[in-house]
Amino acid sequence: MKLKHCHNFRDFRRLAKKRLPSPVFNYIDGAADDEVTYKRNTLAFDDVDLVPNVLAGVDKVDLSTTIFDKKIDMPLYCAPTAVQRLFHHEGERAVARAAEKYGTMFGISSLSTVSVEEIAALNKGPKMFQFYFHKDRGLNDNLLERAKTANFDVLALTVDTITGGNRERDLRTGFSIPPRLTPKSLFSFIAKPMWGINFLTKPKFELPHLQDYVGAGTKVTTSIGEYFSTMLDQSMNWKDAEQLCSKWNGHFALKGIMSVEDARRAVDIGATGIMVSNHGGRQLDGSRSPFDQLAEIVDAVGDKIDVICEGGVQRGTHILKALSIGAKACSGGRLYLYALGAAGQAGVERSLGNLRTEMERDLKLMGCTSIDQLNRSNLRFR
Ligand code: LAC
Repeated sequence: MKLKHCHNFRDFRRLAKKRLPSPVFNYIDGAADDEVTYKRNTLAFDDVDLVPNVLAGVDKVDLSTTIFDKKIDMPLYCAPTAVQRLFHHEGERAVARAAEKYGTMFGISSLSTVSVEEIAALNKGPKMFQFYFHKDRGLNDNLLERAKTANFDVLALTVDTITGGNRERDLRTGFSIPPRLTPKSLFSFIAKPMWGINFLTKPKFELPHLQDYVGAGTKVTTSIGEYFSTMLDQSMNWKDAEQLCSKWNGHFALKGIMSVEDARRAVDIGATGIMVSNHGGRQLDGSRSPFDQLAEIVDAVGDKIDVICEGGVQRGTHILKALSIGAKACSGGRLYLYALGAAGQAGVERSLGNLRTEMERDLKLMGCTSIDQLNRSNLRFR
């Protein structure tokens, strides 16, 4: 199987599985507990049907939208995800370049393996920095300052990782950052020699935003769960979020909002957007899916802030359904991460290209020439 044979999410997943050592693949692919929420995130879209109109003259369609005051060419962007260097040696550079090519936004994590400064130099388009709120206030100030100086457009505070999710696949494979060779994992690394060669010979694994402050990414290996549980500040509250928002003094989003009450509070503290998200089902298993929860949140705050539907998106029609409910855009991680693991920048470009083509086709089949023509009247719940 080759990249040119990847036509959808499942194809990229299959190719990534072939190329990545099992602990790395399962880190992307896995979720919390029984992975019920992870599955539901995508299945939720199937409970709603699109009702198309026809004879609408749809030879040209416009997919562009505006989020956080930035026009993007399609209503989908690459959600920030951590440690991309593990998935491909081009890491965040690949995603930054692919997003720019498709005229869309992308984010990098506090746990990114390329610095905000380098990313800013190679992508002039809209960028988001995913902020983790650490116990170490010096680290928090430094992260904020660096993202500001590098002219990142949006600061997204992650609010759903206050403690590590129970990712049993990672426990089983012994996944750590950086990867550690143990008798258990040895075979999985030997089984994917190309990944191993690239890992050892291409730019070294680093966590440039954290390494002056913590052991993670330097000499001490850690697990993601340990990082969340020991380094992040579990006492983080609305006052902290409000202070961060005013310190940042720019577009500010809360990533991981699920309740109407919290969505309203996000507006109150001055956020300009929220990601309705359960962290890809990786944190609280049994939590509702973003798409299921979207309508009530849009009804409460959709006219005040940008509501992004994040999670479970695998198809153009999923995005059209979320937009019909009232989301401004969708975002996702795995939808480009398998592709990154499968083939680096070329893979990410192909995944974004496939989804753009689907959205264009689907919008035409819906009888619309622009996404603002989508609304709830073209949906039926089963
Ligand atoms: C995760 C974090 C790092 O879900 O975003 O693994």
